[in-house]
Formats: sequence, C-alpha cells, structure tokens
Amino acid sequence: MSLYANHVFPRLMEWTMRAWAPLRAEWLASARGDVLEVGFGTGLNLEHYPAAVTSLTAVDPSAPLPRRVERRLALARFPVRRVRASAETLPFDDASFDTVVTTWTLCSIPSPVTALREMRRVLRSSGRYLFVEHGRSDDPRIARWQRFWNPVQFRIGCGCHLDRPIDALVRDAGFEITRLDRFAQPGVPRLVGKFYRGDAVPGAR
Ligand SMILES: C[S@@+](CC[C@H](N)C(=O)[O-])C[C@H]1O[C@@H](n2cnc3c(N)ncnc32)[C@H](O)[C@@H]1O
Repeated sequence: MSLYANHVFPRLMEWTMRAWAPLRAEWLASARGDVLEVGFGTGLNLEHYPAAVTSLTAVDPSAPLPRRVERRLALARFPVRRVRASAETLPFDDASFDTVVTTWTLCSIPSPVTALREMRRVLRSSGRYLFVEHGRSDDPRIARWQRFWNPVQFRIGCGCHLDRPIDALVRDAGFEITRLDRFAQPGVPRLVGKFYRGDAVPGAR
C-alpha cells in the first residue's frame, strides 16, 4: 500500500468525517448483540455503539493508522475482534451476527452486491442491517456530474465511487429495506453529499 493510501487518505477521511459523528451516533443507537462492522477503517464508529452491543467483529482488508485505532479499541466497552478480510468473502458461518453495520463503505467495495449477499448470509434471520452511505443523487443533473467525476474520485478516494444506487444494491442482495432516509448533508458538496441512511432485514431466504 502506498504512503498516500496508508497515511494521507485515512487522515483526510477522518478530518472530513468529523462533522458526521451525530449521524453515526443516531443510527448506531439501535445496534445490538453480536455486531459485524464491514469496512471498519479507523474505528470512528466505536464510541457510538450502545450498551446493547455485546461484541464487535470488525472487518477491513486494510489497517490504517494503527496507533490511533489501538487508542480507540482500548476504550471499547465490549470485546472487539479485528479480521483482515474482504467483504466479498466473509470468513464467518451463516447466521453468526445480530447486527451488520456499514458506514460510508459500500462506495469502496469492488463488488458491493456480492459483499451485501455475504452480509445477509452471516446475519441471523432476526437480525438487522444498518447503513449510512453516500451514493447516486436522484437529481439527474448531479448524477451526470457524479458519473463524470467518478474516475477522479476513484483515484483520490482509494476506490470510492460517487454514484452507486445504494438502495437498489441492498435490495439486489435480497435485503428488505424497512426504513430509508435520503438527504443532502448541509455543507457537503452535492457530488458526495447525497446520503442514504437505512435499516434492512434479511428478507425471505
Ligand atoms: C471511506 S472508508 C470508511 C471507513 C469507516 N466505515 C468509517 O465510517 O469511518 C471505506 C472503508 O471501506 C474499506 N473497504 C474497501 N474495500 C473493502 C472490502 N472489499 N471489504 C471490506 N471493506 C472494504 C476500506 O478499507 C475503508 O476502511
């Protein structure tokens, strides 16, 4: 991994995401039981998990800013297991988790529907998938700009896509979305600022 991907980009990411802490806290408040977080990054969600969480399994193919992450892990109120793996091939048994979480991750996974099918497989039938993601705008003019800037974003955002239709991907993987909020985040350029916040159940298997 390059100096940019390992050191510069993760710091930039943390800096830009500071303002989104309230979104994390609000959405993760309903996480419970054994939680799988896919795309753990630098652990920015850790402090927002509620007391109902009994364990966290944190999956990411990379492990940036290790000292910063260790400090966050030391404060966790539940056991955390870190697994270096890719979401497309999750090394867990079927029905292993009560909650699956992704935040600003589906944009970067090379095969998002494959990854989502894996998340659905490892989720218990009574479980829930919680997500906060950015993706395709429903304004066709902005969506065209997103498509235009995708190749640039892919380079500077370490694999990030601007225009993924998050809700369609989640449904394509077999989830049933039980709540979906789509909103523009104030102060964030519309190109990246169209957020999808949702709650889904595994659907009929
Ligand atoms: C924009 S960062 C978001 C990090 C974190 N979820 C957060 O909210 O701060 C995207 C994350 O997705 C991870 N990622 C990329 N490809 C992945 C894959 N195939 N499986 C799992 N995670 C992946 C990246 O390593 C990175 O940590």
